[in-house]
Amino acid sequence: MKIFTLLSGEHIEISEAELYSILKAENIKFSILTRLPQVIGLKLSRRGIDKIIARSSMCKLVGKLLLLCDADKNTIINSLSRININLKSKTFNVRIDRVRGCCKHISGHELEVLIGDIIRERMLGSVNLSSPDIRFYGILTGGKFVFGIVISQIKRSKFSEREPQKRPFFHPGTIKPLFARLLVNLSEIPSGEIFLDPFCGAGGILIEAGLINCRVIGSDIDPAMVRGAAVNLKYYNIDHDLVVADARYLPFRNIKYISTDPPYGISSTTMGENVKNLVEAFLKNIYQCLNKEAKICISVPQKLDIKFETGYRLMNEYFMRVHKSLTRRIILLSKE
Ligand SMILES: C[S@@+](CC[C@H](N)C(=O)[O-])C[C@H]1O[C@@H](n2cnc3c(N)ncnc32)[C@H](O)[C@@H]1O
Repeated sequence: MKIFTLLSGEHIEISEAELYSILKAENIKFSILTRLPQVIGLKLSRRGIDKIIARSSMCKLVGKLLLLCDADKNTIINSLSRININLKSKTFNVRIDRVRGCCKHISGHELEVLIGDIIRERMLGSVNLSSPDIRFYGILTGGKFVFGIVISQIKRSKFSEREPQKRPFFHPGTIKPLFARLLVNLSEIPSGEIFLDPFCGAGGILIEAGLINCRVIGSDIDPAMVRGAAVNLKYYNIDHDLVVADARYLPFRNIKYISTDPPYGISSTTMGENVKNLVEAFLKNIYQCLNKEAKICISVPQKLDIKFETGYRLMNEYFMRVHKSLTRRIILLSKE
């Protein structure tokens, strides 16, 4: 099926990377039809679509692609008139958005009305603005018009329902669920596989991995955090194995997927250790616990300039500005 995805506008490069990571993780074949600002067109199976909808943190909407053309009113109207769909009197509505003020010469409202008329007359649908059977959605982006039928509008509010303050155990050093899910997805873990967070804290990343059906293992040097993580994981009905352990001396073997957010020494403790030394020692020592196909996704402050030993291959890295004094560097490593 040909689809389009509307991605979060906050970190476009990372949103796109997350999309491909999910498809790779789940071993789904896909081809890229178009790459436009915040919009990616893909050809893939229904299973692939379901995985994006179930896993993504940065994708806002997935639609069945009906039309991709230049953002020109006549071209849009002519192209749409040639689409042969019979809605058999089903109800519909049409919404048009634009990315970053694209194509201001085209009025969104006028386009909605014109397209609505075509769908009514040629596709035999009837308008219902509030609760239609079918939702048509168009986006003006990068000088193009992308149009189709909404398959799923991904409720990012389901992540805010799991905000750290809403969990039974709260610690200020915990990351937000959207970011935690992103880190899990970037590790390219297939659902059902074993996932490790060696600086698990209150369990924020483990919760997101558990919710996509991974088997979660967590460790932390602080027994109070391990107890708190257990309470949180139980609250979300996630089976787990947790141990108190120093991430520089871990007791694991054959680990394949890790995502983690080590302490920055601000709201979570490094137990007196220098942050850069701690992260570099962790990377050095975890190496012997890894499967040969292992992937690590680690988020660290950019300014630390973390180095990793030979034996690792840098698959990718992304930079995410949080505020004036913190830019996160998300590093993706595999074994060489
Ligand atoms: C930023 S927090 C992790 C938060 C977690 N990702 C979450 O969302 O809840 C970092 C954690 O690392 C733990 N920590 C500090 N030094 C450690 C070490 N040497 N080994 C393992 N854990 C350590 C701290 O106790 C803290 O809970």
